[in-house]
Amino acid sequence: MISVGESSTCTECHSEGEEGYIIAELIYDKIKNLSSLYDSTKAISEKVNIMGMNNIEIEYSLKNIKQNLIQSRTLVHTFDTSEVFVKANEGILASYGAIKLARAYTGRSKIISFIRSYHGSTYGAITLSGISLNMSRKIGPLLPEIYHMPFPDTYHNSLGGAPEDAGKNCLDYLKYAFENYLPPDEVAAVIIEPIQGDAGIVVPPGDYMQELFKLCKENGILFISEEVQQGMGRTGKWFGIEHFNIEPDIVIMAKALASGMPLSALIGRKEIMEALEAPAHLFTTAGNPVCCAAALATIKVIEEEKLMENAEKLNKIAFERFTSMKDKFPFIGEVRGLGLSIGVDLIKDPVTKERNKEAAAKICYCAWQKGLLLSFFSNSVLRIQPPLIITEVEFNKGINIIETCMTDLQNGLLGDDILKVTKGW
Ligand SMILES: Cc1ncc(COP(=O)(O)O)c(C=O)c1O
Repeated sequence: MISVGESSTCTECHSEGEEGYIIAELIYDKIKNLSSLYDSTKAISEKVNIMGMNNIEIEYSLKNIKQNLIQSRTLVHTFDTSEVFVKANEGILASYGAIKLARAYTGRSKIISFIRSYHGSTYGAITLSGISLNMSRKIGPLLPEIYHMPFPDTYHNSLGGAPEDAGKNCLDYLKYAFENYLPPDEVAAVIIEPIQGDAGIVVPPGDYMQELFKLCKENGILFISEEVQQGMGRTGKWFGIEHFNIEPDIVIMAKALASGMPLSALIGRKEIMEALEAPAHLFTTAGNPVCCAAALATIKVIEEEKLMENAEKLNKIAFERFTSMKDKFPFIGEVRGLGLSIGVDLIKDPVTKERNKEAAAKICYCAWQKGLLLSFFSNSVLRIQPPLIITEVEFNKGINIIETCMTDLQNGLLGDDILKVTKGW
């Protein structure tokens, strides 16, 4: 029996004996279904890779481990042996797999990532990320050949232009880099979060994403969607990138894939996935049957309990409620996000849009006192990312608590003393 955590999509899942076969078959079918999102267009040929228990040495060893035998053999047998299998257990390890594959496939070394992105805490992940000096100072040198570009934020345009020009400004910046110091024909891949999560749920404009994708295609650069946070139904679709009608070359998934159990995976074009041979990417505990069973159960719950529909429905409620609150709470600057990835950005002044860290900290602390776990990131953005299984009643109850805390803040009832002990991200 697997009991998984509060932020998961599955509360209890079972895997015993013969069920191991069913589980492995289901996980194959279900994840294959995910890839049919891409197959349907026939624009690119897709292959699914679940990373783990996949190479011959591991299969051989597992045959000697009785309790794992069923699961491991089934996992191996359910996949076409001509596929390339790599394995990982954390989000970043899947990203490393994607980087290795992109470099091997293109024969190029440079990787484009984004300022204010978050990809994890290993050396490579920190290099890819661009969100906190505390993450990168004192520990260099980091990984070479990673280049950070600005990400379009249509509320706080980091390039200083008008908010509505954020997409164009960021594309111009990238093109300028291509013309001056970053030869596009040496770039292997762009790794992008379809919504920048920890930056404060920053949703890029659709035309920016289309143009970026076009630039990649024109220059032979792989487009990699990093769905560690936004994938697995969180935005109301399996993957965040689907909102932009883009078919990425590789999709990276982790976190909710196995409801918080350590498992990560890649979906990628067959020829890319075959650019490396085993043992190019392997980890001792990756892809173990318990995590695969959790992934299987997660996918089943997302589908059967219609959690993506739930995410879309609750998104509308959140938008209606927080938008109407803007009238009475001038510190609400913007409500944004897709599905159950919602950010409420708090400001000090509607003209300068200066981030209101104090308000965010006080509201989160007040919510905690009233029994709601709420965090903020990017200094000022309330992070509304509940488990996908949350009901409408529970969701409204949570928003009621936030509204009460906002009222207390407005009425000067939340003191400064908690600011010494509160830390946002
Ligand atoms: C977008 C994104 N990528 C990568 C990671 C890192 O994942 P992991 O901690 O599993 O390596 C996170 C974790 O929060 C994330 O939000």
